[in-house]
Amino acid sequence: MNLTVRKKIFLYMGLLVVIIGISHSVTNQIYMNYVFDQFRKEEISAGYLNATPSEQIEVLKKYVTDRMKWIGPGKGVFILVIGLFFSLWISGVLSLPLRKLMAAIERVANGDLDVNVPVQTKDEYGKVIETFNDMTLRLREAEDARRRLIADVAHELRTPLSIIQLKLENAHQTGQNVPPETLLRLYDEVIRLSLLVEDLHVLSLAEAGRLNLDRKPLNLTKRLEQIVDDVNMEAEENGLIVHLYSKAGDVTVTADARRITQVFINLLTNAIRYTPKGGNISVVIENEVMDRDRLYVSVSIIDSGIGIPEEELPHLFDRFYRVEKARSRHSGGTGLGLSITHQFVRAHHGFIHVKSQLHKGTTFTVYLPI
Ligand SMILES: Nc1ncnc2c1ncn2[C@@H]1O[C@H](COP(=O)(O)OP(=O)(O)OP(=O)(O)O)[C@@H](O)[C@H]1O
Ligand SMILES: [Mg+2]
Repeated sequence: MNLTVRKKIFLYMGLLVVIIGISHSVTNQIYMNYVFDQFRKEEISAGYLNATPSEQIEVLKKYVTDRMKWIGPGKGVFILVIGLFFSLWISGVLSLPLRKLMAAIERVANGDLDVNVPVQTKDEYGKVIETFNDMTLRLREAEDARRRLIADVAHELRTPLSIIQLKLENAHQTGQNVPPETLLRLYDEVIRLSLLVEDLHVLSLAEAGRLNLDRKPLNLTKRLEQIVDDVNMEAEENGLIVHLYSKAGDVTVTADARRITQVFINLLTNAIRYTPKGGNISVVIENEVMDRDRLYVSVSIIDSGIGIPEEELPHLFDRFYRVEKARSRHSGGTGLGLSITHQFVRAHHGFIHVKSQLHKGTTFTVYLPI
């Protein structure tokens, strides 16, 4: 039976009243029988039988009244004991889930997040316990993410820092002037470090919902034409050309031009980076795309590149996530690009869809509300 705690309390209290009522009338009955039996034994004698009826009634009345003096307190004690016993039992039953939860809460308060309280009832307590279990699961996940993040940041900082340190130590030990190419290498590593720190800063702001957006009407078609022009330089070096198709003429959205530009540059750089020579990359703009009763502008970046295995898709927007780790690090990626892209689009109340087929290509579609 799935009763709420309120109904259980009501039921138990009702039961208590019934039990007290029944014990009251049963004890009355038993005691009265006993009193009349005693009367028969003790009072009915020849004298009594010879008395007038009104005298007999007086004697009976006096006898019963005398005896009744005792039943009040005696029955009171009896009912009190039954009532207390029953209340003790009810309070135990009703507070058991709470006591289990308290023990678990104390463990969490002491830093042990590995707790799970079994849900045994479907009442309010069951729901509270379920929510508590969800909460500790979230806390565990957040704690894991925090640990991973620190490990990743440390790992990413270590490589450029050790290169810089090694080169400087070398220059210091040999006592020679640092050649320009070494300086250039050092400078590259410093730039890499500051980009990484900047990316992490922006990402933490966006995740906390504290990203300042300078939202103005933006001609998305024009902006994408410029972006495609800019990235085509890099694409050509890789033997690729990026084409832009607009199915809707000029499309305007209210957005922060700088952040939106960053979104498409990140997606296009990925498309170029992960598409071999001779492949195709296109950008397709569509206006008034409907999703769950809202109208969006959609921009798809379609490449015919290496693709992404299906099992990797759910992690794609995680910080520092790379599908082919060695390869990406070699080509300079840190795995922050898509996390930043995702956060920027989210800050504009939009979303991103990914479709991919291994060795065939990938399509990222950005939806921005109109
Ligand atoms: N168009 C694509 N085709 C195939 N794989 C992709 C594509 N876009 C992203 N990926 C995969 O997703 C991973 C994460 O992409 P993301 O942009 O976050 O990082 P990155 O490009 O490696 O580094 P960063 O953008 O920070 O310089 C990449 O390492 C790559 O494995
Ligand atoms: Mg990238």
